Amino acid sequence: MKIAIIGAMREEIDPLLSHMDSVEEIHYANNVYYEASYKGKELVIAYSKIGKVFSALTATILIEKFGCKTLLFSGVAGAISGELKIGDLIIADGLCQHDLDITAFGHPYGFVPEGEVCIPTDMCLRNIAHEVAKAKGISLKEGIIATGDQFVASSERKNWVGDTFKAAALEMEGASVAVVCDALGIPFFILRAISDTANDEAGVDFDIFLESSAKISAEFILDMVERI
Ligand code: ADE
Repeated sequence: MKIAIIGAMREEIDPLLSHMDSVEEIHYANNVYYEASYKGKELVIAYSKIGKVFSALTATILIEKFGCKTLLFSGVAGAISGELKIGDLIIADGLCQHDLDITAFGHPYGFVPEGEVCIPTDMCLRNIAHEVAKAKGISLKEGIIATGDQFVASSERKNWVGDTFKAAALEMEGASVAVVCDALGIPFFILRAISDTANDEAGVDFDIFLESSAKISAEFILDMVERI
C-alpha cells in the first residue's frame, strides 16, 4: 500500500527524504513528487507549497495519479493553546477553515452548504500516533487544528480562531488536505510541531524554529510509517 506524505515547505520534507532507502523524482503539474522506499514501505513524498489551494492540488495528485491509499501530513504550526510550547507535537482530531466566511447568509464561520465545519481525521492513524508517542516517551497533544490562507501573527486573531473553533493550533494546509481526503475516501492524519505562538513574535520565531520543529515532526512521522 502506497503511503503519501505531504509537507507544505521544502524544510518540512527534507528531513524525511534524508532517511529514505531509495528515492526517484517525478516532475508533474509544476511540482516534484518523490517516489521512495523506507524500511520496506512504498512512499510518495511531496511539498505542496504554502496554502490551501496548493495543498489540495498536491493531495489530489498523490491520491489520483500516484494511487496513494493513506495520507500523512508533517509540518509546523502556530500554537493557540497555552499548553503548547515551541517544539511540542500536536495531532489533529479535526480540521476547520478559519478564514471561510459566509456568515452574511446566516451560516456559522467555517461552514459552506453541503460541507462541515470540522472534518475528523482517521482514528486508526491517531491511535498509531499515540503508540509511537508512548514508545518514545513524549507527550502528544490532540485537538482541533484551524487552517487559513494567512500567517497569523496577532494575539487578537489567534484568540478569535481559538474561541470560534475551539482550536489548539493553526496552520495553512491541514483543512484543505482534509477536504480532499474526505471526499476521496482516503484515511488521513495531520501532525504538526509548534514553530511559534501566532503572536506578534510569530514571524521571527517561525524563521528561527521552522527547521528544528519540522525535523521533530518528520522523525515522528517516520516512526509511524513503520507501524502502518
Ligand atoms: N504555521 C506555523 N506558524 C503559523 C502561523 N503563525 N500562522 C499560520 N500558519 C503557521
